[in-house]
Amino acid sequence: MTTVFMGDGDWRLSDMANGMERSRILTIAASVREMIAQGKQVAPFTVGDFSPEQFEVPSELLTGIVNAVSDGETNYPPAAGLPELRESLSDWMKHKYNLDVGTNGIIVGSGARPVLYSSFRLFLEPGDGLAHGVPAWNNHYYVHLNDAVDIPIPGTLESRFLPTADAIEKRIKEIRILILNSPLNPTGTCFTREELSSICQVILNENKIREADGKKPVMLVYDQVYSTMTADHIEHVHPVQVCPEVFEYTITLDAISKSLTGTGLRLGWMAIPAALAPPVIALIGHMGAWPARPIQKAAASLYSKPEILEKYFDELDQKISVRMSLLQERLSNLTEYGVSIVQPEGGIYLTARFNLFEILGVKTNEEIRQWLLQSAGVAIVPFQAFGLEEETGWFRISIGAVSVSDISAAMDRLESALKTAFAHERNA
Ligand SMILES: Cc1ncc(COP(=O)(O)O)c(C=O)c1O
Repeated sequence: MTTVFMGDGDWRLSDMANGMERSRILTIAASVREMIAQGKQVAPFTVGDFSPEQFEVPSELLTGIVNAVSDGETNYPPAAGLPELRESLSDWMKHKYNLDVGTNGIIVGSGARPVLYSSFRLFLEPGDGLAHGVPAWNNHYYVHLNDAVDIPIPGTLESRFLPTADAIEKRIKEIRILILNSPLNPTGTCFTREELSSICQVILNENKIREADGKKPVMLVYDQVYSTMTADHIEHVHPVQVCPEVFEYTITLDAISKSLTGTGLRLGWMAIPAALAPPVIALIGHMGAWPARPIQKAAASLYSKPEILEKYFDELDQKISVRMSLLQERLSNLTEYGVSIVQPEGGIYLTARFNLFEILGVKTNEEIRQWLLQSAGVAIVPFQAFGLEEETGWFRISIGAVSVSDISAAMDRLESALKTAFAHERNA
């Protein structure tokens, strides 16, 4: 038998495997780690991770994990999650977001990713439309994994880079899943009640038509892994809070990765109308993607104590706010050097534009990224990693792995590098 292989990659692999992209953010982060290991002065504003020296997970969670291990909690957990964890998460979602899926509508996974992947597998057939905002985190990888049709809905500076109801409505006929994320990674901006309510209305209107035609509905996947992290005077809004009728079409994703800064502890969950849960439980079970039993035990106890959680969230918001304010203040002083920012509203990200194309004589964000890294030791991620094609100078800055003094030192280096670049240009 002869094997014909036309594309790049390895002929032994499937087309899906050959077409699989590595995470651009993790590739950038790996090269930054290498520079730091070589002793270079670099502020790692790249990954959406937390340095445990800067951001500690709640001590109750750690004690709970250690106790669970000591108590011999080392066997398989049930595929949907421990019943006590599902119950405390269900109560939490109801108390916090007015979302009542009951215990049977909560399914846990090892982080938000397995439940995110599962939510796509639940509804998408090959060729179905998967719509997402641009910029946004990682959706293009999931389009590929599901053989879906990519429906990018570009945000604009005016919409704070969030997809709008009008833009979604233009593509609604093609959409089977719409994924929204608020606070948004990479921009740190949040939907208002009005914005989210208009989007829900577009979905409901379309679903009425589809129901009459016997067609499958538009499903809304709402990724709110940064929901507990909002700036002062900004509220996080869940779709059912502004539009209760959208409940039956909504899948909510959440996790402790960001909210409790426990990215490595791997606990996420899906809240879904209970009737849709059985295939998700089976899928998580087939993948073996359930969280380890000790973290489930510890989280079950913590999520049954909202007062401890709220205190932790307040303290965390303070730590985030100190870093964001400093970054904002320092970057706002650099407008004469082509730097501008979007007001951060939530999450751990700040969006900044480095419009240095002319001054550096370059054409791409990647060249600006390299210049910022080499000349100022500022490591950031271009919007290209979030699906944006245009070379517009927009970048994501993450504060999860930096101290306040790291930010000060990085901003000093940046200011000095920009002054030098502009002085050369003026003298040329
Ligand atoms: C918007 C968003 N959703 C989901 C995830 C995945 O979270 P987890 O680490 O729990 O899989 C991330 C991680 O960066 C994210 O930014």
